[in-house]
Amino acid sequence: MSALRFLALLAVLLATARAGSAARADIVGGRKARRQQFPFLVSLQNQGRHVCGGALVHPLFVLTVASCFQSRNPGIVTVVLGAYDLRRQESSRQRFSVRSISENGYDPQENLNDLLLLQLDREANLTSDVALVPLPPQNATVEPGTSCQVAGWGSRRRGGRLSRFPRVVNVTVTPPDRCRPNNICTRVFTRRGGVCEGDRGTPLVCNGLAHGVASFTLGPCGRGPDFFTRVALFRDWIDSVLNTPSQEHWPEGPPTEPMGGL
Ligand SMILES: *[C@@H]1O[C@H](CO)[C@@H](O)[C@H](O)[C@H]1NC(C)=O
Ligand SMILES: *[C@@H]1O[C@H](CO)[C@@H](O)[C@H](O)[C@H]1NC(C)=O
Ligand SMILES: *[C@@H]1O[C@H](CO)[C@@H](O)[C@H](O)[C@H]1NC(C)=O
Repeated sequence: MSALRFLALLAVLLATARAGSAARADIVGGRKARRQQFPFLVSLQNQGRHVCGGALVHPLFVLTVASCFQSRNPGIVTVVLGAYDLRRQESSRQRFSVRSISENGYDPQENLNDLLLLQLDREANLTSDVALVPLPPQNATVEPGTSCQVAGWGSRRRGGRLSRFPRVVNVTVTPPDRCRPNNICTRVFTRRGGVCEGDRGTPLVCNGLAHGVASFTLGPCGRGPDFFTRVALFRDWIDSVLNTPSQEHWPEGPPTEPMGGL
């Protein structure tokens, strides 16, 4: 899709969103997740504050989005696994710094290829609180109408507080006409629902596989569609990164701060 067509689509979607009713809802429209329900969920933190989500895809690697960071460089970020209650120092947690990052053609203008692999400084221990999420095969598709789940510590509205516990919402994959080929888009059709600030980078799980990572949303949170990077387009690339971990610290330069948001 050209930049112009995308902008036109964006304008239409924003107008649609404004015209909608202003019902309040909670992610948005979700419910509190149970402890250990999403053991692959990652909290990326800056000075103890959650900024973005991610997914553990290998004992050494977390999948998130490039748009969580202000520049191509990795953030000064702590990777927290096994978290549930953000206000407590839980014994289930494992904390890491990032050894290196890998991206694959991220285009911030068009928000394309919004994907990032963070290599941890050491291997995670897999426990009942820390587990891997499987990825779809290269080029696998998800049919419109498929029900998927997305969970995260994101706020319930723009500018709102982060959630203390992860919340989960069931979302539906939309038809392609309101999306882009490199994204998977979802909505909650029956009420407001979806991702919000702090959910960027969090995985979209369809049929047990992390088919998407939260990239951006249009208009107010919860109206949709929410845009996820289509992970299946990157499976071969992801495997190539996972199979050749970096030995160096920061091979691509010094880190910058993560900015979070969505
Ligand atoms: C994993 O477990 C081993 C053995 O208990 C421990 O020494 C190590 O620090 C643990 N690693 C992490 C990342 O917590
Ligand atoms: C995935 O799709 C691309 C582009 O259509 C194609 O070149 C590639 O061979 C496909 N790979 C697999 C494993 O199907
Ligand atoms: C949400 O999806 C999960 C997993 O597919 C399913 O088990 C659950 O019943 C769904 N919940 C609702 C409220 O639809």
